[in-house]
Amino acid sequence: MNKKILVTGGLGFIGSHTVVALQERGFDVVIIDNLSNSSIEVLGGITKITRISPEFENLDLRDKQSVNNFFEKYQDIDGVIHFAASKAVGESVQNPLLYYENNLNSLIYLLQQLKEKEAPKFIFSSSCTVYGQADELPITENAPVKKAESPYGNTKQIGEEIIFDTCSAVPHLKAISLRYFNPIGAHHSANIGELPIGTPQNLVPYITQTAAGKREQLSIFGNDYPTPDGTCIRDYIHVMDLARAHVIALERLLDNEQENNYEVFNLGTGKGNSVLEAVQAFEKVSGKKLPYTFVDRREGDIVAAYADTTKANRVLNWTAEFNIEDAMESAWKWQQKLEEKN
Ligand code: UFG
Repeated sequence: MNKKILVTGGLGFIGSHTVVALQERGFDVVIIDNLSNSSIEVLGGITKITRISPEFENLDLRDKQSVNNFFEKYQDIDGVIHFAASKAVGESVQNPLLYYENNLNSLIYLLQQLKEKEAPKFIFSSSCTVYGQADELPITENAPVKKAESPYGNTKQIGEEIIFDTCSAVPHLKAISLRYFNPIGAHHSANIGELPIGTPQNLVPYITQTAAGKREQLSIFGNDYPTPDGTCIRDYIHVMDLARAHVIALERLLDNEQENNYEVFNLGTGKGNSVLEAVQAFEKVSGKKLPYTFVDRREGDIVAAYADTTKANRVLNWTAEFNIEDAMESAWKWQQKLEEKN
């Protein structure tokens, strides 16, 4: 019988791509999503790709009773991948309590249920934001966790601590935190992708919307950083590479291959690209010239971050297969498909 995996936030950006990867690998999937930052149409997109409709529960993980009821109903869950969370850095500064409530209560309620199970497996969606501006590049998992720049970042740090402490107290709980660098791109079929609500805060959706004529021009935040071209450097990782990494991490848990019952991995390409290089990569694959202007630095931005992926390469036997151009091409295809629909 297939193993059954709960994917919270499974209609979101990284969640939906991971659901596809899980189904293609033969897992049965149950999605929990409260549609607060996603659309029910994503379910159709997933089904179009895999020809399998995942089970879906519209449920708010902040409601402890609902979480308990869910696990009553689904007693056969073999593992949980927990994506559901709020993720806008600026919004978290404006409304910290919303972020702490959303991102931490949900995590606590899930773990409370899981620890009662016989062999619980848990994967947590973490972020390179836990490192802040690291002193050394590339960033290894041993780099110190610095004071968070935002309540959002703090929820990821605290989330990891909650899992660490729970794993120490509950040895039969097996967990992995995956620290993503900058996830971009879309499924190559363009049936699912990133769906930002309102004005995009992140670089790539802003680029694709500008090229599609929905935004006048891209504002590049700062060109006076201490980098070769003056713009910030990030490690842009294709969402399908991330999705595959989740499946590998899950199988590591299910096959009891862990060295400790809590492990942490960086997920990135290992390569840093500047904002200008990202724009050039987009222009190359789309054949379109992107209008942009330089503006002041954005508050809270770090200068440069890219992953040392040695641990994920060695332990998970995972390496990113796509580069920034592949990711831009898929993001652009997705944007064009969205324009056709509208
Ligand atoms: N940028 C622009 N113009 C824009 C948007 C972004 O110049 O309109 C620049 C940013 O200044 C930054 C780079 O593009 O240099 C990437 O910015 P994103 O907002 O796409 O991504 P961040 O690196 O700021 O944020 C990502 C995740 C967060 C996470 C953070 C940790 O989206 O969830 O990494 O560093 F917290």
